Amino acid sequence: MNRNGESVFRELALFQDYHGLPAFKNELVKLMSKIRGDRVKFDPNKLVLTAGATSANETLMFCLANPGEAFLLPTPYYPGFDRDLKWRPDVGIVPIHCSSSNGFKITMPALEDAYERAQNLNLKVKGVLVTNPSNPLGTTLTRQELNHLISFAVAKEIHIISDEIYSGTVFDSPRFISITEAVIDRNLQETDLWSRIHIVYSLSKDLGMPGFRIGMIYSDNETVVAASTKMSSFGLISSQTQFLLANMLADTKFTSKYMKENRRRLKKRKDMLVSGLKTAGIKCLKSNAGLFCWVDMRKLLVSNTFEAEKELWKKIIFKVGLNISPGSSCHCTEPGWFRVCFANMSEETLQISMRRIKTFVETILIIGNSGSSSQQQQPRGGSVISKWVSKLSSSDPEPDR
Ligand SMILES: Cc1ncc(COP(=O)(O)O)c(C=O)c1O
Repeated sequence: MNRNGESVFRELALFQDYHGLPAFKNELVKLMSKIRGDRVKFDPNKLVLTAGATSANETLMFCLANPGEAFLLPTPYYPGFDRDLKWRPDVGIVPIHCSSSNGFKITMPALEDAYERAQNLNLKVKGVLVTNPSNPLGTTLTRQELNHLISFAVAKEIHIISDEIYSGTVFDSPRFISITEAVIDRNLQETDLWSRIHIVYSLSKDLGMPGFRIGMIYSDNETVVAASTKMSSFGLISSQTQFLLANMLADTKFTSKYMKENRRRLKKRKDMLVSGLKTAGIKCLKSNAGLFCWVDMRKLLVSNTFEAEKELWKKIIFKVGLNISPGSSCHCTEPGWFRVCFANMSEETLQISMRRIKTFVETILIIGNSGSSSQQQQPRGGSVISKWVSKLSSSDPEPDR
């Protein structure tokens, strides 16, 4: 690795300041602004580097909540949050129940209902955590939803964490509106709320490099920035990675081209998936972002239960050869929804999957849904080991990404 023809090996081998490489942070805030159409400016001094968004979310929990306190999360939500919030920070998750009746939108009554349930459970609510665009829905939050969140956070004096890890994948209208933009548009930068808004970002999705472990927290709250910078000691990004990526991101021609091409390909893939499923008589939630679709397979269930959903999931694994995430893994309250990822396979594989799904759906609808899937899972874990430890050490797959 060189700078102006001189090797920087020694410098990088020694560099270990947890504030991060300034050149890297400068490029990251420029990228964040660019993704938001330069409507919002970010200050590199308010950016904290973490080993992925996973570490960013966990670190924020340690900073904003005590063990036993809670965050409200709209359902369905990214299954990894159960790990990030609960395992070490011991923060409770109270679901904000969203339903298919309005396309899983966040409403004021749903927010109030979740708050009330938390209170009945004696849980102090410290904030709301949303993903925008949503994993698993593949949709961006609307202006109205953002306004509900803002009004709610003002009224209850709580934090908003917006995990915007998919912000660069928005391939269709409506355009992406970041929480910061929505707060600025309501002229609330001079209020207390401004210091209770925290953005999580990462290059894992938008630049397709989860292995590099590049995540970050952006906050206007000095205490949070100072504390999370210290906490980042437990999950630093290597100096070598920071140097490499600072140089890559400085090539703005490349990043612009990459992001544009990425969005074009995602849209093409998503259209292929939606039309393939449509031919099989299966509908998807209308989406405009992300690497997946939220698919309605309710009509393939033998009964309107999560047992039936699990049975269907297993059948699709064993008979179709596809592993799609059942809605229950995302804490969806309605059985029969599945998250189908379209970005991690070739076009040819996607075509083959669509053909297989079509045959499978026809078989179920014509012949019926009889016969259970093979291979039952064996329960594990002895009574002497705590439930928490046996769950961690079980052969369960990693929380779904
Ligand atoms: C909403 C959301 N947040 C965080 C993560 C974790 O990202 P990272 O690889 O940067 O830790 C994911 C990964 O799927 C995600 O979907």
